[in-house]
Order: sequence, then C-alpha cells, then structure tokens
Amino acid sequence: MAGRTAGASAARSAIAPYQSAFHFRIPLRISLMRRAIYPGSFDPVTNGHLDVVERARKLFDEVIVAVADNDEKQPLFSLRERLDLLRRTVGEIDNVRIAQFKGLLVEFAKAEKAGAVIRGLRAVSDFEFEFQMALMNRKLNAVVETIFLMPKEEYTYLSSRIVKEIARLGGDVSSFVPACVTRALNRKFNR
Ligand code: PNS
Repeated sequence: MAGRTAGASAARSAIAPYQSAFHFRIPLRISLMRRAIYPGSFDPVTNGHLDVVERARKLFDEVIVAVADNDEKQPLFSLRERLDLLRRTVGEIDNVRIAQFKGLLVEFAKAEKAGAVIRGLRAVSDFEFEFQMALMNRKLNAVVETIFLMPKEEYTYLSSRIVKEIARLGGDVSSFVPACVTRALNRKFNR
C-alpha cells in the first residue's frame, strides 16, 4: 500500500510541470478556443494552400489565414489582391478567417490569442527553412507551437513561385489554383 502511495506521488510529481503548463498556464494566457494562424505570402493562393487550410480547420476551432504584409518580397499581387483572392476561395468557410499582419508572426499570434502556427511541409527541401523558422519563433515566444501539415502528394511540387512562372510563360495553371486566381494571373500577364 505504502509502495502504491509512493508510486502515485512520484507519478504526480513527474506530470506536475506539464500540468502547470498545459492545464493552468496556457489556458489563462491563450484563449480556451483552439485557434491557429496559417501565415504566408499567398502570392497567390494555390490548391496546395487550400488543402492545408482544409486539414487545419478540422483540427482547430478557428484558423486565421494570415497574409504577411511584407514588401521586401516584392509580391506579384498587392496585399489587397492577395486578401481578395483568399476571401473568394476560403472566405465563406465557417471556422476560417482571413487577416493580414505586419511585423513579427509571434506577436500577431499573441494578439489573436492563437496557440499554434500552421505551416505546410511539402518535401525535404522545405524542411531546413521551416525548421529554422519554427525554432526561432519558439525562441521568441515559447507558448506558440508550430505544427506542420502535409498536403496531398499531388501538391508536393506546387508552389506560388512555380505557378507564377508558368502563367508568365503562357502555360495553363488552371489545375493548380482556384479559378479566380487563374483569371487574376491571366489579367496580370495580359492574357
Ligand atoms: O509563404 P511564405 O513566404 O513562405 O511565408 C513566410 C512567412 C510570411 C510566414 C514568414 O516570412 C513570416 O513569418 N514573416 C513574418 C516576420 C517574422 O515573424 N519573421 C521571423 C520568422 S523566424
């Protein structure tokens, strides 16, 4: 009996740090709602992004698709255009919200009371950059967890950069992006 009591006490001490972190500290700082941020340039949104949104929204109460307002990347589409294309593709989904952010991602996550950042991981080539970003974000704010989701295999080779290049060179991108994005790309490249 004494052994059982000692065992239970040891088990309690072993889980105590996690209990305090997960059951008390985080819910007080983060909202009880399981909210995640899916950040990116979305220049423009592709079917691969939509696949990740669909997976993320099944795991969280709310997913905020957050478009980075970062002119350094010299996007093809303006911030307004990128937001508009996202609104027209995922804007109607119940637990998905479209937003923009400037500055540090972890600060935006904190302001939105989000406990997780979602990133799509397509191939090993993505890993190095994503790993660095996830660890740096953790250093900046240890409470926000990065979660990687793998899109369908057929989107492994798909990226906004490649879609823009194909469209610029006159190729058909209609099977890679939503219809409104195909139209927007054709307009950009005068087709
Ligand atoms: O779609 P992208 O271009 O790969 O998205 C990159 C993005 C926007 C998620 C990343 O550049 C970012 O988080 N920018 C915000 C600034 C920031 O927090 N930088 C530190 C990350 S380690």
